Amino acid sequence: MKYQTIRDVGVKGKTVLVRVDYNVPLDNDGKIMDDLRIRASLPTLEYLREAGAGKVILISHLGRPEGKDEKLSLGVAAKALGRMLPNVKFAKDVSGPEVKNAVAGMKDGEILLLENLRFDPGEEGNSAEFIKKIIDATGAEVYVQDGFAVVHRAHASTDAVAKYLPVYMGLLLEKEVSNLEKVALNPEKPVLLIIGGSKVEDKEPLIEKFTKKADRIVVGGKIAADGYKGGDDIYVAEDFDEDKSGAKLDVGPVAMTKIAGFITDAKTIIWNGLLGKAEDPAYATASTIAAEMIGEKEDAETVICGGDTTGFVENLMKDHPDLKYSLVSTGGGAALELLAGKKLPGLEAIRKN
Ligand code: 3PG
Repeated sequence: MKYQTIRDVGVKGKTVLVRVDYNVPLDNDGKIMDDLRIRASLPTLEYLREAGAGKVILISHLGRPEGKDEKLSLGVAAKALGRMLPNVKFAKDVSGPEVKNAVAGMKDGEILLLENLRFDPGEEGNSAEFIKKIIDATGAEVYVQDGFAVVHRAHASTDAVAKYLPVYMGLLLEKEVSNLEKVALNPEKPVLLIIGGSKVEDKEPLIEKFTKKADRIVVGGKIAADGYKGGDDIYVAEDFDEDKSGAKLDVGPVAMTKIAGFITDAKTIIWNGLLGKAEDPAYATASTIAAEMIGEKEDAETVICGGDTTGFVENLMKDHPDLKYSLVSTGGGAALELLAGKKLPGLEAIRKN
């Protein structure tokens, strides 16, 4: 069975609701540090425009707000998208009169981004009522899932939505799934998985899942600093650079030397999660060495995934255009879960033939 994509549905003149993942990394001033996830949504939006779609309404989450939190408003993403495409508007709600009026005022071909879905507990609660309100307020006739990075979550916009509208795959989701499945199917050995970053509760259970697929697993970042205990073929960083208070903020030189050896030997490398608190240049050494070594490898398939890691690598590439990676994925947990062979709720919800 094959997933149905936006190419399988007539969108001419229709109101299309597109779930994107604009969960972009923000700096302390709320500025977007890497807009890959926004840029990556353009092929679907351009396709819809060319196919003559009527009103196009985008929904997304940003961060993990607890209730409404102005610092996590998607207004910043609407502005960024507006610099890439004409006629982008923003509504400060996801349903109700503000959205109804905004949609009523839209002309065909215009794009409207709604506010952060996670301001309402209905999104993460996978509430059918919540997504129904959005569908009613927007008058959506076609639903497109293009938020690859969030399809591992069973949320209202990835799962419950299928109760009301057939869900079609967007072009980013299609590309990510087919590229990652190719890597998962027949990777050249040795396979090295490097895990770091901060979403400890999400990643820890996944590490075990990779023990059969990866020949070597390296754990750095906060998971290692918090004392994760590895097992066979799992190498957990053994020394760290610390700040004055003793907080372990980067992988230390002993561990980095070992990790460098694993990178040299590997023929397939999957990297998700920075090795230290790399937004602070003082603790970006290990991540920089890893990114440079991986980007310089000519004898390996290299996959970079996760918002912070891809952002870091993309920023590095601005100064070092010679660095090359086989695949820079917009997904973090979603990419890992797909590679680990797990079923992803947001993919299960997509219409099949
Ligand atoms: C991600 O960045 O991995 C996705 O946007 C999902 O976000 P979450 O981990 O907060 O659910």
